[in-house]
Amino acid sequence: MPAAPDLSGRTAVVTGASSGIGRAIALALGRAGAHVFLAGRSQAPMDETRKEIREAGGQADAVVLDVRDVEALRGLVERAVQDTGRLDVMVNNAGLSYPGDIADADPEHWREMLEVNVLSLLVGSQAAIRAMRAAGNGGHLVNISSIAAHRRDSGVYGATKHAVNCISASLRLELEDDDIRVVTIMPGAIATNFARNFDPAFLKGLAATAGVADFEPQAGEKLPDEVLDRIQPIMEKLLSKPEDVADTVLYAISLPQTVNIEELVVRPAKALAL
Ligand SMILES: NC(=O)c1ccc[n+]([C@@H]2O[C@H](COP(=O)([O-])OP(=O)(O)OC[C@H]3O[C@@H](n4cnc5c(N)ncnc54)[C@H](OP(=O)(O)O)[C@@H]3O)[C@@H](O)[C@H]2O)c1
Repeated sequence: MPAAPDLSGRTAVVTGASSGIGRAIALALGRAGAHVFLAGRSQAPMDETRKEIREAGGQADAVVLDVRDVEALRGLVERAVQDTGRLDVMVNNAGLSYPGDIADADPEHWREMLEVNVLSLLVGSQAAIRAMRAAGNGGHLVNISSIAAHRRDSGVYGATKHAVNCISASLRLELEDDDIRVVTIMPGAIATNFARNFDPAFLKGLAATAGVADFEPQAGEKLPDEVLDRIQPIMEKLLSKPEDVADTVLYAISLPQTVNIEELVVRPAKALAL
């Protein structure tokens, strides 16, 4: 990775910053000097990230919110602008998957995926565009999609990521005359809590591979950090690190506004269908 850009004096908002990819992005932006506003559902990991950013000399604030709450998400963006006078980077990262056959699925799971992966990305993008236009400094929208958007048969989760790509491309066109660039990042398989809704038997096997024998996963429960930390190096050909995506974000936002990085795929050496 080339030297990190100097983001001193810049402001960034990251949704889904309490875990995985969003957490790594928030940390990378904060270490590079940006004032980062983290949003997620879990306070403790965001407090840890905020501490790490502050220890590195940066500034960070953390807000517990549900991104499906339109007013709360708008309020976060407004707060970032009120506190710092600007907004330079909006990372729409919060997202989740409920894998499984459509015929057997719970419609509430479809609703959650659509609301978190698609609607909150729209609300976050709109709030950020308005804030960036008002501040007049331009900016970057970073939308976290998935390689699932490259497949036609990637289920309801994949459909939400097709929507993310379509929305991002539409925004890119809409914002051509603003100094606001829109980059879509499509990760492949990354070792994170994204797996929390996967089959518990599969997760138990994964934990055993990582040498954690006494883990009894419950549907929806986060994986212990030690499982994620151990499994990634063991399966490094199949699973990337959240930091790999964070490096990509730093790259995309560090280029001049005249450079339009539209889409980036970040995946491990070997393909693992998600
Ligand atoms: N990991 C992969 O293999 C992979 C591959 C391609 C794309 N992606 C995408 O990458 C993004 C980040 O996922 P990840 O892998 O980092 O998974 P993760 O570790 O589970 O993190 C997801 C983040 O989103 C937050 N979140 C979920 N629902 C939310 C809601 N209603 N309100 C507020 N925050 C919410 C979570 O908060 P809490 O943890 O506090 O609940 C967490 O901070 C997602 O958009 C995902 O689709 C992941």
